[in-house]
Amino acid sequence: MRIAPVPSLPEIRLHTPHPASGLRRLTDPHQSSDDDDTVGLDDDEPEPQPPYWAYVWAGGAVLARHILDHPQTVAGRRVLDLGAGSGLVGIAAAMAGASAVIAAEIDRNGIAALGLNAAANGVVITVIGEDITAGPPPEIDLVLAGDVFYGREIALRVTPFLDRCLAAGIDVLVGDPRRADLPLSRLRLLAEYQVPDFGDAKGAVTKPSGVFSFGADDRWR
Ligand SMILES: C[S@@+](CC[C@H](N)C(=O)[O-])C[C@H]1O[C@@H](n2cnc3c(N)ncnc32)[C@H](O)[C@@H]1O
Repeated sequence: MRIAPVPSLPEIRLHTPHPASGLRRLTDPHQSSDDDDTVGLDDDEPEPQPPYWAYVWAGGAVLARHILDHPQTVAGRRVLDLGAGSGLVGIAAAMAGASAVIAAEIDRNGIAALGLNAAANGVVITVIGEDITAGPPPEIDLVLAGDVFYGREIALRVTPFLDRCLAAGIDVLVGDPRRADLPLSRLRLLAEYQVPDFGDAKGAVTKPSGVFSFGADDRWR
């Protein structure tokens, strides 16, 4: 992967895949090399997930853009980047003056990428490399959830966790291009930005993606 600026966030540089990166090895065990224990699979390991962490998703990009344009959103606050992937959102939060940034990511290659990307941008991020969504929230003031409603299963897992965050007095911001499993009834739109999405063809017209505040079921009625 090569370090390159993010198109919608030139302030941030990420390890970025290109055709020779060979990311297919991560989902096709037959293509993994014997001498590379990062990508090789043991027999008892679960099916590999696609390398979602390798890409910038619209939900993360819109949240990171909002944070960099409105640093007061995170300044002096302890922040959790949930489903951090590349770490884009957490990096933006650290650059904007968050007092501490924790990134939660379950993909082991994503965890490695997060550390490298944080270092490439000169920021410090503490990585939690396990699923924290079943437990209590960590000691934080704000959750930043960039594109974590990309499937039904993860949406069902994340929503009760965010509810526990609200109950603990923690604010929650969601960035999303309005994917099918986004719980819109729980969200209030704060801002919109035109950012490219993962999978968009080069030069494709960008659609507006939203930054939302997540609230209790009856909060926005
Ligand atoms: C769609 S990607 C978004 C990445 C990044 N936030 C962005 O917007 O570019 C979702 C990420 O969440 C991670 N993920 C999925 N389930 C998770 C969980 N229970 N806890 C932490 N991360 C999780 C995936 O591995 C993936 O990297």
